[in-house]
Amino acid sequence: MNRKLFTVGPVNVEPETLEAMTRPIITHRSKEYKLLHGSIVEKIRKALNTDMDVFMVSGSATAMIEGAIRNGISRKSLGISGGSFGDRSAEIAELNGKTVEKVNVPFGKAILPEHIEGKVTEDIEAVHWVSNESSTGVFADSTAIADEVRNQNPDSLVIIDAVTSAFAMDLDLKNLEPDALIFGTQKALALPPGLGLMVCSERLLKKAETVENRGFYTDLIKIKKQSDVNYALTTPPVSLMYALDYQLDKILKEGMPACYRRHNEMADLVRNWAEKKLNGIFPDEGVRSNTIGVLNRGDLDFDAFHAALKDKGYEISNGYGGVKEKTFRIGHMGDLTPDRVKELLGAMDEILEVME
Ligand SMILES: Cc1ncc(COP(=O)(O)O)c(C=O)c1O
Repeated sequence: MNRKLFTVGPVNVEPETLEAMTRPIITHRSKEYKLLHGSIVEKIRKALNTDMDVFMVSGSATAMIEGAIRNGISRKSLGISGGSFGDRSAEIAELNGKTVEKVNVPFGKAILPEHIEGKVTEDIEAVHWVSNESSTGVFADSTAIADEVRNQNPDSLVIIDAVTSAFAMDLDLKNLEPDALIFGTQKALALPPGLGLMVCSERLLKKAETVENRGFYTDLIKIKKQSDVNYALTTPPVSLMYALDYQLDKILKEGMPACYRRHNEMADLVRNWAEKKLNGIFPDEGVRSNTIGVLNRGDLDFDAFHAALKDKGYEISNGYGGVKEKTFRIGHMGDLTPDRVKELLGAMDEILEVME
């Protein structure tokens, strides 16, 4: 059955977007490829309002998170985590032989600059955290955290997992000045999975020159050399890139302020519904994500509720990680609209009535 996805990613992909993938394959050492690659980079820069480097690898966002860590840290980092994906970045660093000092923030609470007070010591080469923690639905003020990092240690890099916020919530890159900002295709870009992307600073590239064992696949120095002439380091998924180029045109046509507003509107609809009809939203007020509603289950039989919702042709997402059993999640990002969210909420109302 073809269900309407209100999941947290992969998300719903429109037929026209899939259609854009069916153009003839080109080789990645052709003039046509260079045009496609360059066009994507320029459009991402425009959408995110940055002139920084934009790198792509075939894979998922995690490939680029691992890449940022392997290129930006020789020995030691500080990992801030308020959930599963924050933990994962720390795990990636440790599995790559780095030492990670950890700051754990309670699930559902804001990540604040004071959480890292006195912790970005001289030996901390990078601080990593998640912009929008997909397990708890908490959106962090990354600019405030990055400022605090650089106040304490101007040499420390900031590596930000923006997998579920980029292109949906304004990250204000001109002020944030990330060293690595990472995302993928299967979230707010509303594409199939398959590309890991990174906005990368000169500082990170400079640091990479001093770091050993950067590997090959995500060696940012090798990637930069190719990217400067609009080539990929290894074989890129050109079909997905056609669709990415198409989606970027669509997003730019909507305009970023309108796109961010639409995500805010969808989030408000879900939040209000959760307060009125169920047990509210899990994360604290003021730090709630505009892309993922994490709803308290209370005594709702989620499996029965979700089975009934699937029968009606909709799919949402289970809870995740440490709050799996007490929450469930609704993804409202990408090409979805407030009208489509209202349609989902209407279907959920009908199910609640029957379940009562
Ligand atoms: C916040 C966050 N970070 C990282 C990831 C991992 O991304 P990928 O599966 O594209 O590697 C996800 C996936 O859901 C995520 O939500």
